[in-house]
Amino acid sequence: MMDQVNLGLVGGGTVGGGVWQALQRNGDLMAARLGLRLQVVRMAVRDPKRTRGFTVPTSVLTGDWSEVVHDPQVQIVVELMGGTTTAREVVRAALKLGKPVVTANKALLSAHGPELFALAAKHRTNLYYEAAVAGGIPIIKALRESFAGNRITRIAGIVNGTCNYILTRMKLEGAEFSEVLADAQRLGYAEAEPSLDIDGHDAAHKIGILASLAHGFWVRPEAIHTEGIRHLSKLDIQFAGQLGYTIKLLGIIQPVASAAPSAAKKGRNTKKAPDDGQASGIQVSVYPALVPNTHVLASVNHAFNAVAVRGDTVGDTLFYGRGAGQDPTASSVLGDLADAALDLRAGNHHRVPPFAAHNGQGRVVPMDTIASRFYVRLDVSDRPGVFARIATVLARAQIGISSIIQPEGHSGETVPVILMLDAASNQSVRKALATIGKLPVVKSKPVVLRVENLD
Ligand SMILES: NC(=O)c1ccc[n+]([C@@H]2O[C@H](COP(=O)([O-])OP(=O)(O)OC[C@H]3O[C@@H](n4cnc5c(N)ncnc54)[C@H](OP(=O)(O)O)[C@@H]3O)[C@@H](O)[C@H]2O)c1
Repeated sequence: MMDQVNLGLVGGGTVGGGVWQALQRNGDLMAARLGLRLQVVRMAVRDPKRTRGFTVPTSVLTGDWSEVVHDPQVQIVVELMGGTTTAREVVRAALKLGKPVVTANKALLSAHGPELFALAAKHRTNLYYEAAVAGGIPIIKALRESFAGNRITRIAGIVNGTCNYILTRMKLEGAEFSEVLADAQRLGYAEAEPSLDIDGHDAAHKIGILASLAHGFWVRPEAIHTEGIRHLSKLDIQFAGQLGYTIKLLGIIQPVASAAPSAAKKGRNTKKAPDDGQASGIQVSVYPALVPNTHVLASVNHAFNAVAVRGDTVGDTLFYGRGAGQDPTASSVLGDLADAALDLRAGNHHRVPPFAAHNGQGRVVPMDTIASRFYVRLDVSDRPGVFARIATVLARAQIGISSIIQPEGHSGETVPVILMLDAASNQSVRKALATIGKLPVVKSKPVVLRVENLD
């Protein structure tokens, strides 16, 4: 008879329901591929009486997660309830019993990853979390296993589907952020309380996990420079388009050497990945950036995610797919379950550790010290001498201007002006723009976006 591995699910909502249904649909196929059968024997939900879009036998359902975790039949615990409080208890309790855990919970890992990894190691078991980053895209396995022979020299990712959906519609429809957000909420692409997504925090949770895996030290969420997209206007999307760029919320992870303002060369982005050993640290950041239309990330649209990984051995790779949703996320959970079940059967509790700290010197570099090229939009008085005043402030800060554009078709007391700046440190640009923002001829807060050539 074929081996069976018994699963206990905590959570039967979007993802938990997806896992249950996918196992009903593809359980035989998985059994044929793996040589063992995955069987859900217990499932905890908040309200076992609630009607669901799928049927679970009452003998399997419970309202008490601890019954699932402590059931001696349950060999693998699958945490799909979300949150960082009870979910942490669930995962801790399972690991303490030596049971492997599969989770999709990026917020939990972001907040408590090192504690949970240490607990897994202590109790000679494992923690699997493919579904926590980029939904159905197998990026965790790629970084942890497939690219084990690479030094990762850059990761650039679109990892928040809600933001990408909003930015895509702003571009295609010429619509304002607030209109598209309201529509996205109505259609279920954005939460009623959207700040986790649109202020960049969800992307930062995921980028922190990828950075930790790629660079071998745990990146705390507070260390990640995070900006969202709520300040963007359709004007920025349009002007970026006229200049040959598309605005994307990008997570950027890359080793940086040194980026003093004097290192900035005219018209070039000096933010180069140094040879290993010379890195003064790693840039780990999330912000909206102008991406050249010729780069593949510029054409990742709607709710899709994509992660571009560059390794010194493999070169450039791209992972593309659905970053959320019931089936794509369930697909990643099932992939982890296959690994966990095969590891269990092989008696191999640490075939691949959940996170291997291998870089004691690793640190995240403050954004202020990093050099970038910039797009700046100013609303200025429509009268002579304005450019000269702005240029003087930038010249004093030794920031070069690669182009100034005053788009046609705007009339009135104030008009927009677009500046494309040469590479300069984030600190010097921040300070110069604070001064420019106070000039009487500048009528609103400057909009500042980085330009990422990704070459
Ligand atoms: N949705 C996605 O597309 C997606 C993508 C990637 C990762 N994730 C992650 O996957 C996890 C689950 O997300 P989801 O969208 O599936 O959430 P969800 O639809 O809200 O489902 C949560 C489930 O947990 C159950 N639950 C809540 N509190 C519980 C408790 N104290 N005891 C037992 N069960 C409890 C709920 O029970 P009831 O059904 O009775 O309410 C529900 O079944 C989260 O960590 C999320 O970040 C989600």
